[in-house]
Amino acid sequence: MTADATLTVQGVTIPRLGLGTFQLTGSDCVVAVRDALELGYAHIDTARAYGNEAQVGQGLHDSGRNRDEVFIATKLWRDDLSAVGVHDQLEQSLRDLRTEYVDLLLIHWPNGDVPLAQTLGAMREAQEAGRVRQLGVANFPSALLREALEHAPLICDQVEYHPYLGQPQVLALARERDLMVTAYSPLAQGELLRDRVVREIAAAHDCSPAQVVLRWLLDQPNVAPIPKASTREHRAANLAAFDVELSDEERGRIAGLERGRRTINPSWAPDWD
Ligand SMILES: NC(=O)c1ccc[n+]([C@@H]2O[C@H](COP(=O)([O-])OP(=O)(O)OC[C@H]3O[C@@H](n4cnc5c(N)ncnc54)[C@H](OP(=O)(O)O)[C@@H]3O)[C@@H](O)[C@H]2O)c1
Repeated sequence: MTADATLTVQGVTIPRLGLGTFQLTGSDCVVAVRDALELGYAHIDTARAYGNEAQVGQGLHDSGRNRDEVFIATKLWRDDLSAVGVHDQLEQSLRDLRTEYVDLLLIHWPNGDVPLAQTLGAMREAQEAGRVRQLGVANFPSALLREALEHAPLICDQVEYHPYLGQPQVLALARERDLMVTAYSPLAQGELLRDRVVREIAAAHDCSPAQVVLRWLLDQPNVAPIPKASTREHRAANLAAFDVELSDEERGRIAGLERGRRTINPSWAPDWD
């Protein structure tokens, strides 16, 4: 059975497999985005903090794809989440991306110095002005996500999620409130590609470890993985994860790899679930 190529939350349909662009810069980023869009990707994840929005915009332009065929998510950096900061950061993102709107605007990391109501209020204004289609957060543990939902109609929490890090609380809340969980670092930044169980399952299917992990994520309700891949070969292979079919037993073995392993945990991280 093929996994669905799109995910629908709160009536919004989103291409399920995105291209992550963290650490993709300069011409490598332009080429990666153009190439991914030519291969059939339709969802690109970037951030103000990645310093590559201009290159993402160039790649989008070079691909010749229509703007309305591509879902672009970007993120507000945490150093200025005031109302003015939201406005200014977003306008810079839109200018660099060479677009009139982004499909999804996220708070990249929570920052307790600015009331959530202020940041999310400014994001709602941007949405009402048509500069942003949908709103969301990233790196919000479940309690903070619940609080954020009181201030704005969010459709997404982007968190680290892969077989080594289960995220049961965020997933449960996302399913209860019909949100997308964008799974970042879905390959645990490559660690999972060396896992014995993942490799055994890949060998049984004559596919790659990355495809096994991505298919495991694609099979789950409300989950959209955004692997980063610098080479065309990896980008094409990741898209072909839709063609891999896992059994219930294999999905169970992969879920059993959970070990609370987090690859991204900076000093400003919130208290995780
Ligand atoms: N919101 C946040 O705070 C946050 C934090 C981290 C990441 N993210 C987002 O999530 C995206 C993905 O996360 P990530 O970049 O940390 O890690 P990741 O996607 O888990 O792993 C990327 C690594 O896997 C390799 N890879 C990808 N496809 C492969 C394949 N088919 N075969 C073999 N190796 C493969 C890549 O190699 P090559 O590059 O050589 O292809 C790279 O070394 C980021 O780019 C970013 O957009 C968000």
